Amino acid sequence: MRRPFIAGNWKMNLNLASARELIAGLRAKLSPHLAYDVCVSPPFPYLFPVAKAIDGSAIKLGAQNLSTDEKGAFTGEVSALMLKDAGCTYVIIGHSERRHTIGPKDAVGRVCGEDDDMVNRKTKAALAAGLIPIVCVGETLGQRDAGQTEDVLTQQVRGGLTGLTTEQVAGLVVAYEPVWAIGTGRNATPQQAAEAHVHIRKRLASAHTAKAADAVRILYGGSVKASNAAELTASPDVDGALVGGASLVADDFLGIMMGCVTAKRLK
Ligand code: 13P
Repeated sequence: MRRPFIAGNWKMNLNLASARELIAGLRAKLSPHLAYDVCVSPPFPYLFPVAKAIDGSAIKLGAQNLSTDEKGAFTGEVSALMLKDAGCTYVIIGHSERRHTIGPKDAVGRVCGEDDDMVNRKTKAALAAGLIPIVCVGETLGQRDAGQTEDVLTQQVRGGLTGLTTEQVAGLVVAYEPVWAIGTGRNATPQQAAEAHVHIRKRLASAHTAKAADAVRILYGGSVKASNAAELTASPDVDGALVGGASLVADDFLGIMMGCVTAKRLK
């Protein structure tokens, strides 16, 4: 059975003091031995202090991005090995906020334009350093309305994971995050999420092996809250959640874990 996974993505939020408070709030209520995995993904400058704050707990560390390259003259970039040194277990790759333009188009830094090829190179860089990639895929509202959801997911899964060995694929985490559900308060229905997850797993099986596809954990992301976590993670193909806003508040994030525990009938 796949081990459920609740991953927090802090994006560009919190400060050092509130990050420490959040970790203390989580630690106060989380047993060090869980039947599922949990991670938090702080901004780069907080990786080290958060690594220290979670030490000895069940909480693992994730980063939100990494460079495609190992080292060199790449000002402002951070390599996979640096993330590993900082204590990361996971790294989020190809988040829609890095693939697409969001916010005002003239806002500096809002257009990362990462494509499937870059996602693929980052995934390989992460794997080479021993990090577990959380590879994000998902359609825009326009693509869903045009009936293109499955094609978009097929393309992103194929492009992002091309050239990986079967063993590498089996160890991956994929996050299905419909772009229209991110930060909007409008989550996918449990049925929409389940259909997308089944589709992604089928594509993984046809591109690799059924065994590898069966081992991949696929998380749903997009307006997950304590109140909808159980229904969103109830489908057997949904292995947990990638959580943005609600991962910034200890009780909300814990409530999502409890929802998943209920849905998966974990102890
Ligand atoms: P929200 O949970 O805030 O909708 O964000 C989801 C997300 O983008 C996680 O990576």
